[in-house]
Amino acid sequence: MKKSYCLAVILLGTSLMGASLNETTAQQNGESASTALVQKLGSQVKGIMQKEGPVEAVNFCSKNAISLTHEVSKAHGVKMKRVTLQQRNPVNRPTTEEINIMNRWMSEMAKAQQPTAVLTNTPTGFTYYKPLVINNDVCLKCHGTVDSTTPLGQVLKAAYPNDRATGYKMGDLRGMIVVDIPTVE
Ligand code: HEC
Repeated sequence: MKKSYCLAVILLGTSLMGASLNETTAQQNGESASTALVQKLGSQVKGIMQKEGPVEAVNFCSKNAISLTHEVSKAHGVKMKRVTLQQRNPVNRPTTEEINIMNRWMSEMAKAQQPTAVLTNTPTGFTYYKPLVINNDVCLKCHGTVDSTTPLGQVLKAAYPNDRATGYKMGDLRGMIVVDIPTVE
């Protein structure tokens, strides 16, 4: 009797440990995949801005941002997308749940709190939501006040007639990276 009770405790203990380990691993995967994406996109855009200028950098983003996101996702065994409350590319529209999380971050930021990543359970694993805050001047070239008469302004307008992704300032929430982390094959 006593023995089986003991065994049950041990089993319960290990299954709880299993669950929390999974969660920790998912959190780490989400963080490393989203960081890799930010670095990859950021360094490429910065490099092209410096070498070829902002117009070419816009063309680069239009052509490659989504495929690069898929590439980095594949390398990390996850699925990623970038979403925002104010889209430039209409493809990057958020779901209701994503909108709720971004709104929560915005109200935390209004109270001078740092937005922190969120991890949720899904039927197939976890989803990790990483806040994307504008913390680099380079972002403002294309997401700050853009003069529509410059070549940059014109190329943006031609490619994104319904562009809502300008007018940001340093420290603003630009959006989020959503990382789907499967734990079930
Ligand atoms: C050279 C211009 C340029 C620069 C610089 C730039 N972006 Fe963008 N950004 C774009 C374009 C074009 C798109 C739309 C294509 C895409 O990426 O899906 C975009 C889209 C995005 C999106 C997807 C949401 C949406 O609005 O469609 C996010 C998030 C984003 N940018 C964040 C940033 C951040 C953060 C920085 C600074 C590290 C930055 N961008 C710098 C041009 C730029």
